[in-house]
Amino acid sequence: MDRNNPDRDKLRFAADVLRSGGLVAFPTETVYGLGANALDEKAVYGIFNAKGRPSDNPLIVHIADTGDLPRLVREVPETAQRLIDAYWPGPLTLVMKKSDVIPPRITAGLDTVGIRMPSHPVARELIALAKVPVAAPSANISGKPSTTTAAHVIEDLAGKVDVIIDSGSSEVGVESTVLDATVDPPVILRPGGITPEQVSRVAGAVQVDASLFGRNDENFVPRSPGMKYTHYSPEADVYIVDGPMEKVVEFINRKCAENAAKGIKTGVLASEQTMRQYGPATVICAGDRNRPETVAAGLFDNLRRFDHLGVQVIYVEAFDAKGIGLAVMNRLYRAAGGKLINISGGGET
Ligand code: TXA
Ligand code: MG
Repeated sequence: MDRNNPDRDKLRFAADVLRSGGLVAFPTETVYGLGANALDEKAVYGIFNAKGRPSDNPLIVHIADTGDLPRLVREVPETAQRLIDAYWPGPLTLVMKKSDVIPPRITAGLDTVGIRMPSHPVARELIALAKVPVAAPSANISGKPSTTTAAHVIEDLAGKVDVIIDSGSSEVGVESTVLDATVDPPVILRPGGITPEQVSRVAGAVQVDASLFGRNDENFVPRSPGMKYTHYSPEADVYIVDGPMEKVVEFINRKCAENAAKGIKTGVLASEQTMRQYGPATVICAGDRNRPETVAAGLFDNLRRFDHLGVQVIYVEAFDAKGIGLAVMNRLYRAAGGKLINISGGGET
């Protein structure tokens, strides 16, 4: 579907499927979403079922118009309103106190709900035509990298959903920023398409949840339930390597040679700047390290490509956690299950 000129008849068909309790995978500017009528408990159950998603992980509710917001929440805090004015439609999910209209299954029993208005024209039209708020997690099997093309969605969910709308690649490439707007200053529960700098410019200040780079142990209780699960993981074992670039390259090259000797197929996710410095290995270019948005855009597709190539171990160069780079590093950290190797001047630590 042409994002700028969506076929209205087809969209109306998909909207009817949503209204009647079906599941529709649709494009957004961040990643593809797996949508159901948010006011229909049974339809929402279908989402958890299709993804294999743990029932204690709440869903984001998507709207097409700010007029849809008041009945879904108990109040819109003043800071939230300013953020809405600045960044909606766009990749910002605001967590607010839920109203009784929202079924408990969506929020996993929490008394708050995450709401966002996507900017992708196809998503907006679809939700507007459905005339209901749309609950939608990323359209991937739970635990796998999120989907940024219809081909990814088909790979994970073919046969499990009623409709898949293909509208090319998601341009942002990482999910929305999830922001707790019930507290002042607001807290970033999951970094994403809207950067901490962008939030604080409007909100005056912002906090970043300390658990973002926390480990996946059982005592770890993040405020965003989704952050406790291993996530975004390709089949391969992922390691992030951080340190001075020339040391990082040297370390990864050494690992590739060791693995080659053992017959282990190794991948490297490298920046445009360094990708030519690697010896025999499956090297994929992540983008320009000085423009983290280029790394975000292809991140999930690149992780999935390693799987298609049968890679068993992936070494990823660390990127600066600045701007949208914070979201990139958060997703990589989760994909790696926290395996971060720090090469200081002297060597591995
Ligand atoms: O960009 C996105 O946000 C995409 C597209 C489809 O809109 N959606 C998405 O949904 O990433 P999902 O379900 O994959 O991730 C939602 C995240 C989870 O980490 C969840 O725990 C958190 O948002 N979340 C949802 N409701 C919450 C709430 N009430 N309080 C705290 N965290 C919440
Ligand atoms: Mg997800």
